[in-house]
Amino acid sequence: MKIKFMLNDRSQTWHTEPGESLLDLLRRHHVVSVKKGCDGSTCGVCTVLMNQKPVLACTVLAVRCAGEHIHTVEGLADEVEKISEAFGIEGADQCGFCNPGIALALYALKAEHPEADAAEIKQYLEGHLCRCSGYQSQVKAALRYLGEAS
Ligand code: FES
Ligand code: FES
Repeated sequence: MKIKFMLNDRSQTWHTEPGESLLDLLRRHHVVSVKKGCDGSTCGVCTVLMNQKPVLACTVLAVRCAGEHIHTVEGLADEVEKISEAFGIEGADQCGFCNPGIALALYALKAEHPEADAAEIKQYLEGHLCRCSGYQSQVKAALRYLGEAS
């Protein structure tokens, strides 16, 4: 079936297969900033924003996106630039596989709770696995981003 939805503030009408996830739909259309990791709701790398809230694209059926607003990092270039800068300064930018999902989560955190402290950031990022960083540098980068952005 065809679904019409907003992707990064642009209207799209795409065909989706029965049972297809939002993750597979996006990647089939070359939106490969949205990563495919576990494909089972445990790693966080497929995070996108649905109506400004983080969701795991591997767990959302594509048909559920009809009429909704989806954002990926491509649609939030200015904020993602600030987050990338903070990651670079704090040494949190390593292989980068987890970065798009974390960037979108931090963008949502800023909107929801810009005064979040380190403990709250850790809690917010709990579902985002990173095999490279040890997480401390990411928390520091998040504090830097929130501090600069608020
Ligand atoms: S790919 Fe969706 S949570 Fe891992
Ligand atoms: S930086 Fe490599 S998985 Fe997070």
